[in-house]
Amino acid sequence: MSNTDRYTKKKIKSISSETLNGENYSRSDFARSILNYPAMMVPSVQEPIFEKLSEALNNEVSLLDPFMGASNTLVTGMKYGMNVFGQDINPLSVLLSQVKICFYENSELIDAEERLNNLIVSDKSESVEVTFDNIDKWFTKEIQIELSKIYRAVRREPILKTRKFFWVALAETIRLTSNDRTSTFKLHMRPVEEINARQVSAIKTFISISRKNILNISNYINILSQNGCIKKGKYIKNATVLWGDTNIEIRTNKKFNLLVTSPPYGDNQTTVTYGQFSYLPLQWIPIEDIDDTIIFDYLKTTQYIDNKSLGGQINDSDNNITERIFERSRTLKRFVTQFKDNDLKKKAGKVTRFIVDLDNSIDKMLPKMKKDSFLVWTVGNRNVNKKLVRNDLIVKELFASKGVEVFTDLEREILSKRMPGRNNFSNMMSREKIIIFKKTK
Ligand SMILES: C[S@@+](CC[C@H](N)C(=O)[O-])C[C@H]1O[C@@H](n2cnc3c(N)ncnc32)[C@H](O)[C@@H]1O
Repeated sequence: MSNTDRYTKKKIKSISSETLNGENYSRSDFARSILNYPAMMVPSVQEPIFEKLSEALNNEVSLLDPFMGASNTLVTGMKYGMNVFGQDINPLSVLLSQVKICFYENSELIDAEERLNNLIVSDKSESVEVTFDNIDKWFTKEIQIELSKIYRAVRREPILKTRKFFWVALAETIRLTSNDRTSTFKLHMRPVEEINARQVSAIKTFISISRKNILNISNYINILSQNGCIKKGKYIKNATVLWGDTNIEIRTNKKFNLLVTSPPYGDNQTTVTYGQFSYLPLQWIPIEDIDDTIIFDYLKTTQYIDNKSLGGQINDSDNNITERIFERSRTLKRFVTQFKDNDLKKKAGKVTRFIVDLDNSIDKMLPKMKKDSFLVWTVGNRNVNKKLVRNDLIVKELFASKGVEVFTDLEREILSKRMPGRNNFSNMMSREKIIIFKKTK
């Protein structure tokens, strides 16, 4: 290990556990609170690591997040003036990320807000703009009418980036005004009595969310400006986000010297159902306003996005694939082969399927990383069949099988990660490992 590496490692190891555990930072700062996307990264974890690695890379950083989610990693990278690129399989993540990395003048948003509010309140039409199976189950008639007024008003906005901004506000409005319970990411209807007793207005909710988002994005842009990262109304470096399946490809020809990501912990169905969470909002947002390169039919069923995400395919693993992944990870093999009962075996098989996809995704990422680049993985362990899946060890073994070694690692306790309490997910994960690899070849 070179002296510079030794110095960087020491600096990283000196990050205090209070900082890592999130005691010094506000979770709601900057653009992070624009939409409550599940399982967002917290700044406390990221910022000190960004700072130290940026220094090690002479402050010339190209950052990749191949599972960008709410793009908090990218947004943090932009605070440090990095070139950033992210992709995600979930169209809602893409829309949200497009908004968070975009430069908006405060006045253009305030003008648009006023225009929209005028259109919405003067719209007397009762027609509903969107149809899909079970719309009446998920939205009351009154809410459908109100959402349609908002929908018509946003569609009339001439500038695409402005429409994107307000589609995000609409997405959050839908989360808060549909008949879905917000306590879990899975779609679950509220009890009928509760729906009937609820006093909720989509228009009022939209107006207040739009106002809050304008404030948040403006605060964030002010921080970028103060850091010297905005010149002539533009971010000084390149920031790109795309829809993409990391299991298939990273959709850029660029090369990177830093990768920071927090991949899923398992297949979406049994961990965090990002797809179900996004299903209702996505019904109301025109695909052409998100990304016209999206090539999958994400509105087909409530499960579609989750089934297409890592580990989502249910087909039984082919024996050769299983053998090959077991060769790469002894920890995975030991975990899976301990179960004899058919039901338990089936559940453990889903872990194999997920790790096969994760391994495949790593193969897509590594060629995009330059020599001497760093890869920062935040990984959590979880229980399956009441036994711990050591994702941290598995990930280390997968990287080792590709000749990429651990540079250093850190551990943090999760204080209040935004996981719904009811499915006990938060109980299952109370620690996360931050594993930093260095690609030396
Ligand atoms: C834990 S979140 C990422 C959080 C993010 N780092 C942040 O800071 O907000 C994991 C993301 O992986 C995405 N994902 C799952 N399978 C994927 C795939 N095959 N390709 C791309 N993204 C995928 C999910 O849609 C989800 O948004």
